[in-house]
Amino acid sequence: MSSRHLGIGLLGVGVVGGGVAQILPGKATQLAARAGIELRLVRALVRDPAKERTRGATLPPLGTDGAAVVDDPAVQVVVEVLGGEQPALDLIRRALRAGKHVVTANKEVIAKHGAELFAIAQQHGVALQFEASVGGGIPVIAVFQHDLAANWVSRIAAIINGTTNYILSRMASEGADFGDALADAQALGYAEADPTADVDAYDPCYKLAILASLAFGEEVRPEGVHREGIRSLSRRDFAFARSLGYAIKLLAIARRRADGIEARVHPVMLPASKMLAKVDGVFNAIEVEADLVGTALLYGQGAGSLPTASAIVADVIAIADALARGDRPRTPIPPSSRARLVQIESIDSRYYLRLSVPDKPGVLAAIAAVFGRNAISIASVQQPEQTPEDPEAELVIMTHRASEAGMQATIAQLSGLDVSPRVQTVLRIED
Ligand code: NAP
Ligand code: HSE
Repeated sequence: MSSRHLGIGLLGVGVVGGGVAQILPGKATQLAARAGIELRLVRALVRDPAKERTRGATLPPLGTDGAAVVDDPAVQVVVEVLGGEQPALDLIRRALRAGKHVVTANKEVIAKHGAELFAIAQQHGVALQFEASVGGGIPVIAVFQHDLAANWVSRIAAIINGTTNYILSRMASEGADFGDALADAQALGYAEADPTADVDAYDPCYKLAILASLAFGEEVRPEGVHREGIRSLSRRDFAFARSLGYAIKLLAIARRRADGIEARVHPVMLPASKMLAKVDGVFNAIEVEADLVGTALLYGQGAGSLPTASAIVADVIAIADALARGDRPRTPIPPSSRARLVQIESIDSRYYLRLSVPDKPGVLAAIAAVFGRNAISIASVQQPEQTPEDPEAELVIMTHRASEAGMQATIAQLSGLDVSPRVQTVLRIED
């Protein structure tokens, strides 16, 4: 390290990288005081150097050669905010092997390759920080790594995707259709042109895998997290949920069990009185249950340029501060083993089902018999009155606690009934 400044190579100058390029020069004096040294952008990688960039950002020289940024001898810390698996993964590996500290916001790379990258970082005695990878500007990674270190974490329940929370909030508050709410999320810049990562819940699965690995001390693989997105929800579900006293949220849940770890991301019905039910718009919240702190809730902006860049710059400051003091920045600890993840069929839950059924005698009795055969006890049934023109009736069934395996068998058997009910929505009730 030069005695006068710490050189930073920026991989990506998009939403988050643009925020970093705005904060570093904009708050240079405050950051130097906190870091004990000036933080200086040396050069940056982009796809298109000619593109117009964030207003207010003072940009270093831009280029299209990632290796040139990583290998530059003036760069001591590499900030990776490209997104996606490649070339981000190869550039992070290259930086760590070259003895450079890395800060990343890349949840996909950390979730899929964290264990390998932590081991490389440890071998080379360098830091690999990823506070921005979950919860944007909310301090959450450091909370699990340090602040909860004395605890035995038993459960995490989190809203960790701002885009889907925005869509669900619009569907709940305005009765918007999924398609309209998604189009608005895209127009506002929350959702990508290809919204798959958010609405099909890949993004929160990566984030849950990262949090659960830290919380439980074993590697939780993202492909082992049960995943269901929000595409099939209808505004009818929101109307029923509200009348029954519930909110609908995309929840990421991880829980320790005697036989392994339960890790799942899917839409749930939450009692409206719960704190997580009140987290609306693009906000995120992470609820933790642990033996010493009890229940704790972390809440804030889970995405966006400056909130996310805030987490990146904090990670850079932690590295700079250690170096300025002559210490070695903290290297990440690779998980000692891989977690045993239990199958979704083994969970218990209460359920909400919305069905379209022919409105004629014997239909309700036939449906109720299927629930009975699978040992599922019905808690309530609602059938709003139809007008004579309506070809079908709508049936909303709430169950008592039941096994997922029993519920899946019920759904399969319902479709085989002569009266042919159509199961429109099934939601787990998380109370
Ligand atoms: P973004 O706006 O799409 O920016 C990506 C940047 O990387 C752009 O500058 C792009 O260059 C550059 N880039 C991408 N692929 C490249 C390649 N193959 N070669 C050279 N340059 C390349 O993405 P972002 O929203 O800032 O997200 C960055 C990371 O932060 C992702 O891992 C994301 O998951 C994470 N994150 C984002 C948010 C958020 O609110 N956006 C919040 C938390 C975490 P051009 O500018 O020339 O296109
Ligand atoms: N696409 C993510 C979200 C932001 O909507 O929360 C990046 O983590």
